[in-house]
Amino acid sequence: MNPNSKLNAYTEIHTKWSVLQDPQSPWYSDLSNASALLYQVLKPWWVGFYLIEGANLHLGPFQGPTACTRIPEGKGVCGTAWLKRESIVVPNVHEFPGHIACSDQSNSEIVIPLISSGEIWGVLDIDSVHYDAFDAIDVIELEKFCASLNPHKL
Ligand code: SME
Repeated sequence: MNPNSKLNAYTEIHTKWSVLQDPQSPWYSDLSNASALLYQVLKPWWVGFYLIEGANLHLGPFQGPTACTRIPEGKGVCGTAWLKRESIVVPNVHEFPGHIACSDQSNSEIVIPLISSGEIWGVLDIDSVHYDAFDAIDVIELEKFCASLNPHKL
């Protein structure tokens, strides 16, 4: 996706999300709609949330093929983003040490930590069949999107 199309896609996401988001609903309603919206607009291979419970990330609402259910802290791209509390862009997942391959169709990935009031409660994970699909625009826009999500406790 070229930079202009990407920016237009995120404008659409932020606009639709401001209407869709429902603070009265439980966390699973919000995260379900959030994953569906990102899937519809960005059209990735896979998009979803992993939520922290104890020493693991657990699979939450997602769109796309079935995925691994549990990721320990510090493992894979998701567990590393949790440990470091920072967004990670992986242009080629096959070169990321310890990458967890839920699907052999994924070639690049972005993971954004979900942090509210200084506390991390999960990650957003997006996978693409294309190499090098994610860049600084995705980091900025997805961090903005994730900051608008209502935190929850499992
Ligand atoms: N690739 C991720 C695992 C989750 S799936 O991509 C949906 C990782 O290395 O943490």
